[in-house]
Formats: sequence, structure tokens, C-alpha cells
Amino acid sequence: MAATASSAFFGTEPDRFDFAWPGHAVFGDGCAQQQLPAWAAGRGVRRLLVLSDAGLVKAGIVAPLVESLRAAGCAPVLFDGVAANPTLNNVRQARACWDAQHCDGLVAIGGGSVIDVGKVLVAGLCADLPIDEMLREGDRVLTRDAPPFAAVPTTAGTGSESTTAALVKDDQGRKHVLRSRRSRPQWLALDPGLTLSLPLSVTASTGFDTVMHALGAATNRATNPVGEALALQALALSMRALPAVLAEPASLKARSDMLLASYLAGVAMSLRGVDGIHGLCTPLEALVDVPHAHVLAVTCVPLMAFTLPAATLRYAQAARACGLGSPGDGDDALARALVDAIDGLRRRVGLPCTLAELGLRADALGAAADAAMDNASLRLNARQPTREEIAALYRAMQPA
Ligand SMILES: [Fe+2]
Repeated sequence: MAATASSAFFGTEPDRFDFAWPGHAVFGDGCAQQQLPAWAAGRGVRRLLVLSDAGLVKAGIVAPLVESLRAAGCAPVLFDGVAANPTLNNVRQARACWDAQHCDGLVAIGGGSVIDVGKVLVAGLCADLPIDEMLREGDRVLTRDAPPFAAVPTTAGTGSESTTAALVKDDQGRKHVLRSRRSRPQWLALDPGLTLSLPLSVTASTGFDTVMHALGAATNRATNPVGEALALQALALSMRALPAVLAEPASLKARSDMLLASYLAGVAMSLRGVDGIHGLCTPLEALVDVPHAHVLAVTCVPLMAFTLPAATLRYAQAARACGLGSPGDGDDALARALVDAIDGLRRRVGLPCTLAELGLRADALGAAADAAMDNASLRLNARQPTREEIAALYRAMQPA
């Protein structure tokens, strides 16, 4: 079978793999304020662009970091115009700020949207090409060295701080994905204290995204064993920590576990990609404007039920890593226990389970089924659905 773009990026050939670790990460409550200034000074940054969004600035998360950077002599320049669904226009505005202020380093403080804009900005600084060509070609056309680039994630999470992907919308609302190892942050402060004030709804949806990243990377048909080990660790951690953090949002231990799981799932995803849960989700996201995890919560269980016969061993291995099932359970029972546990988690977290809850009808999803056929994540799924099977999967997401 000809290699697809996705299977080439995330190898599926047995006994062959490579891996590139993301940048230097520090972890711990308070580490961002304590160590970010030293990172910037150590890299010789004289004018640091601080990329964030207005909500985080208003919540008071950014000011202490900016102040500590100023005290260290890094002359921070704040750009807080990143939108919740970032656009190429956000990238152009940030670039204009970079040029006008003669910046020589960047820190992205925020969730996946802010970090994704940072990645695309850095990629643009490494290439002399129109932005759409640079997005399409990725690392192949990034000929200059990246400037110093740090990230401080404030959600747990999209894992954007460690993944190779960045998602931005163009002026027509179409989504583009940059795949690049070279434009990832080189330094990360994973500071769980910054996630303590995250609203419950965002905690739930970003946390469920982490579970889906870990699950997809652990059970798809990619062959990278380093990513597999990290994905299983991230899955076990996030399945336990997500209910805990929702029950006790002020628990630093639960917040720490979710932030670590998000980071590890991001690294795993950067090595193995995800699976058909995201593959069926992407075409639906073009039709509705709801949080990413709401769509994942609808697609996950039908896709897992479809995949189970071809992924029994992988699902059973994931179930064992999570401590599911009973002593003596065989692989079939364990694999089913994993599907049941994911079904139980989406309900416990309070996410939608049907297309109707998203405002969609399966009989109007012909174009979405066509689009799913071309989806790179679906091609990494352990069982490949036909066009008719995709339509049937969307029908299975209708309420009974
Ligand atoms: Fe995701």
C-alpha cells in the first residue's frame, strides 16, 4: 500500500522507527515564574514577545510572569490578541508586532490556541515563503534556525506544547495543520499552579481531549514503541486524574497529574499520531462550532466498538495499563472493559454522547463521510472503515 502523508510522518512499518524528543521541560508548582526569566536571559533574549490571550491577561495569569521577565531585563512585549480558534490573521498580527518591536525571542503563555499561533509564527520566521505554502510543506522548507521559543501551557490540555502539530483557520474559516518538529517550543514550563483557576467546563473538555490523545496514540497502527509506552502512561494517569480534578478542582496533585498526562500524551501523539476518533471528529468540526472534546465524546464509543475486533490485543493492553477489568479476565473482556470505561468517563464528565446534542443529523453528513475518507488520523486507525461504514458509524451516533 502506498504510504500516506500521515503514515509517512508516523511510521507504520514494523521494526523501524525514529523519534525526536521535544524541548527541555521543567515541571513544578511555581516553576514558570521562577525559571522563565533565567531561560530568556540564558538564551540572550533582549526583547521577548509574550504571546497570550485577553482572557488570561484579565485573569491575572500573565502579569506576574511579565513582571518577572521585566525585572530580569528581557524587555517583554505583550501581544494578547490570540482568538479561541486561532486564525492566520492572529499570526500576521503577532508577526507585525515581532517586526515592529524588533523582538528576538518568544514565549507563548496559554492553551493550545496561543501555543499553536506561536508555532506558526516561528515557522514563518524560519522560511521566506507565502504562509500557505509554509503550512503545507512544514519542516522541509524551514531553512533558517528558529529563534528562542518557550511555552507555558495554562490548560491540561491539548498537549500542543509537545506535539508537532499546529492548527489555524484561514480567512475563509478552513482549518490548516502545520506539521513541524523544528517549530516546537525549545523550552517548557509545566506549572500546575497556573491551571488551578481553570473553569470546570474547560477542565473537563481539555482533559477529555488528553484522554483521547493518549488512547489514540496507544491503540492505533503506528509502530513507534517509545510513543506507545508514553501513551499508555498518559492514558492510565488521565483516566484516573480527570474525575479527581473535577471532584476537587483545587487539588494541586490532581492538577499536576492532568498537566503531566497532557504533556506525555502530546509527546506520544507527536510520535504516533492519533486514531479514527479524531478522524471522524474533524469533518464534523467543520459543521459545528462547539468545543473539540464535545465532538470527540460523540465519536469515541461508536468508533471503538467498530475498531475492537481488529484491536482486541491493543485495547486489552490499554485496559491492563489502566487497571480495568477483573482478575482472570481474558483479552476480549478487557477490551470491552476499555470501551465501557471510556463510555462511562464521557458521561461522568458531562459531555454530549449523540449527534443530536451537537445539533447534527446523520442523514445530512454525506460530505462529512467523504471528508473522513481522506483523514490522516482515520488512516492510522487499527481498522479501516469503508465509505459506507463511516456513514453507518455516523448513524450509530444518532440517539436511539
Ligand atoms: Fe485532540
